[in-house]
Amino acid sequence: MITTSGLTKVYRSRGREVTALDGVDLHVREGEVYGVIGQSGAGKSSLIRCVNLLERPTSGTVTVAGQDLTALAGRGPRAGRELRQARSRIGMVFQHFNLLSSRTVQDNVELPLEILGRSGKERSRKALELLDLVGLADKAKAYPAQLSGGQKQRVGIARALAGDPKVLLSDEATSALDPETTRSILTLLRDLNRQLGLTVLLITHEMDVVKSICDSAALMEHGRVVESGTVTDLLATPGSELASALFPVAGEASGDNRTVLDITFQGESATQPVISQLARTYNIDISILGAAIDTVGGLQVGRMRIELPGRYEDNVVPIGFLREQGLHIETVEQTEPAQQTQQVDRAPSALVKEEAK
Ligand SMILES: Nc1ncnc2c1ncn2[C@@H]1O[C@H](COP(=O)(O)OP(=O)(O)OP(=O)(O)O)[C@@H](O)[C@H]1O
Ligand SMILES: [Mg+2]
Repeated sequence: MITTSGLTKVYRSRGREVTALDGVDLHVREGEVYGVIGQSGAGKSSLIRCVNLLERPTSGTVTVAGQDLTALAGRGPRAGRELRQARSRIGMVFQHFNLLSSRTVQDNVELPLEILGRSGKERSRKALELLDLVGLADKAKAYPAQLSGGQKQRVGIARALAGDPKVLLSDEATSALDPETTRSILTLLRDLNRQLGLTVLLITHEMDVVKSICDSAALMEHGRVVESGTVTDLLATPGSELASALFPVAGEASGDNRTVLDITFQGESATQPVISQLARTYNIDISILGAAIDTVGGLQVGRMRIELPGRYEDNVVPIGFLREQGLHIETVEQTEPAQQTQQVDRAPSALVKEEAK
């Protein structure tokens, strides 16, 4: 539904150049909720603004629903019209809602339809239908100042849906909201995604957002996508930073001469019996150093960090046993004491991991 290819954006201001996007290839499939995550300045907003051509890419292409938007941008009045039309099929939701304070809720939702030249009757019918969809049917005549943050964002979402978009873009739509309101807005986005078959590309800096509603995710660093895929595939990817950030498991080895393993499992995988079976079969003491279990897209996934006595070489057979049970195993290399202080400040994902051979 959305494809960017070699997307690059260089800002030039006061003789300085900032490369905000550095060859981004993104593939968002129809009907999925796709999360883009990354630190401040990574280029997330630039990406979303280039996807709907609010920002002109320096190079590369953006295709939405099979239409190459970059080919339309800035090529005369006719192409301009086509671009405006294509853009009206892409809804956009903002962090600070961007509602017009002098207009009622209904008039805010009608705004995109006015721009599209729809009749008053049609605008009103559509706006009321959308307000009903987002649970604000009774607020049509209210003004934005009379609404809570969550209600304002519902108006923002209703307005974004006015042009019957196939794609909804959202830039930190929940970061100005409290946790409970965040959950209700995320649930609304998920419901719209399912009911309307809407493809959602959202930007967030919160892993919980990715965990609760995203089918796929990409991690951005310095204008590049460094990891991407479906959340379940990422969880099974050795050394995936996104997976470690989604399911952080902490826990240091209790001493020298120990092997620490991270086990990733999905679905109904009965990890607990496997661990006790391992202990019985090889007569070893196993300690669980940490665990994180959650539900992603209705599927149970988790990680567990365990410690076995002895070095890696001593544990090749038990590790092979775990693998045979269909579990995904990574060894966690223990750090030298000198480096340990430095690591305290870093994310668990910063631990050096290497897939066990
Ligand atoms: N209009 C602009 N002019 C010049 N530089 C810009 C402009 N917009 C963004 N940048 C720069 O481009 C880089 C990427 O910015 P962008 O806003 O895309 O990051 P972001 O990932 O959305 O960050 P945040 O999480 O803080 O919103 C930053 O270095 C930023 O300073
Ligand atoms: Mg941003």
